[in-house]
Amino acid sequence: MPLNDNREVTPWEVSESLGEGDYLRIAREFGAGIIDNDLRNRLERLAGGTNPFLDQGVFFAHRDLDLVLNDVENGNGFYLYTGRGPSGKMHLGHLLPFMFTRWLQKSFDVNLIIQITDDEKYLFRDLEWKELSEVTRNNILDILSLGFDPQKTHILIDSLNGSTLYRRAVEVSRHINVTLSKAVFGFQDSDNVGKYFFTSIQSVPAFLVSSLLGRNVRCLIPHAIDQDPHFKVSRDVFPKLGYLKPSSIMSKFLPSLKGGGKMSSSDPNSGIFLDDSPQVVRKKIMKYAFSGGRDTAEEQRKYGANPDVDFSFNVYRLIEEDQAKVSRIREDYRTGAMLSGELKTMVAEKISQVLAQLKEKREETVESYEEFLFSEERLIDSFQ
Ligand code: TYM
Repeated sequence: MPLNDNREVTPWEVSESLGEGDYLRIAREFGAGIIDNDLRNRLERLAGGTNPFLDQGVFFAHRDLDLVLNDVENGNGFYLYTGRGPSGKMHLGHLLPFMFTRWLQKSFDVNLIIQITDDEKYLFRDLEWKELSEVTRNNILDILSLGFDPQKTHILIDSLNGSTLYRRAVEVSRHINVTLSKAVFGFQDSDNVGKYFFTSIQSVPAFLVSSLLGRNVRCLIPHAIDQDPHFKVSRDVFPKLGYLKPSSIMSKFLPSLKGGGKMSSSDPNSGIFLDDSPQVVRKKIMKYAFSGGRDTAEEQRKYGANPDVDFSFNVYRLIEEDQAKVSRIREDYRTGAMLSGELKTMVAEKISQVLAQLKEKREETVESYEEFLFSEERLIDSFQ
């Protein structure tokens, strides 16, 4: 079912009926480009390796990615910017853009700003500051447990870094009127005025480096397609302020366990959360994960399954390092040599293994947490 005024995707809501077949159309409607084989090969060649998120078509759309690659080739470089709105516990879906961002950071050895938009969740989710500061800390630890470069990673927390953000957000906001905000985000007259201002805050990290260094440095933003409306607005405004338009690379959503829409924090059984125990992961996968298999084992042996719509397979193909194994499993499942129960058992174990590794790393990260926090001086230094 579409959302208010027929929108299917906004940064705050995604239609439950959104399926694999809708992404190309939506990206085109948003005005984004599609990552074709040439662009993907060029990115992987410059990165010095392949990546399952690209090869499996999960990161599938972009804005001006080619300009980033030109800047890599001509030695100008670029930096990465991504973020998280700390509304509660993180699930596997939230982790995907960060996993991909980590690969980009490692491959290109570049700086990364991670914005934590606690102000957004104050305005859009009616959360209170006390709760937000706890969630913020927990989410940051979850993100850092993926292993970002401490020298080159800068975590900017909106409510704590106001002096960096505010003046620049005001500059952006002068170029965004209410009519545009309503058209892009679907806001109503009854929405609080903070919501109208918020996109200006989310746009700042995309020109912050250029602003602090006094010279333009290109910014690449990895995110799922829901965040595109923000950066579409930034792209209109930045040239008016003398900055480069930000580039972006966009993914599809990890769907809810039951298939369709996106994995979301509001329904605990719609997703796998990073603190789910192996028993819970197994139960959720066995009981709720949408299967591309047949109704009976006999039918599946005979006709095979459809891996493309299978939740468990779709997660597996992204978290398994051995991509040759992914191809073998895909073939076995597709031809009926592997049954849904076997696939689910294997994937539940793999997910729990990944979560256990993150948990272990998370404990080490508690010590180094402060090192990652943003300061203007540290950011400027890391570009010297
Ligand atoms: P948030 O916290 O809703 O989501 C964090 C990141 O995860 C992506 N995402 C998903 N990706 C795959 N499958 C899903 N089911 C799924 N659900 C969410 C989001 O697109 C996002 O990349 N306003 C932002 C925070 C933010 C930000 C940014 C995000 C600030 N600056 C720059 C990306 C880039 C937010 O609330 O994200």
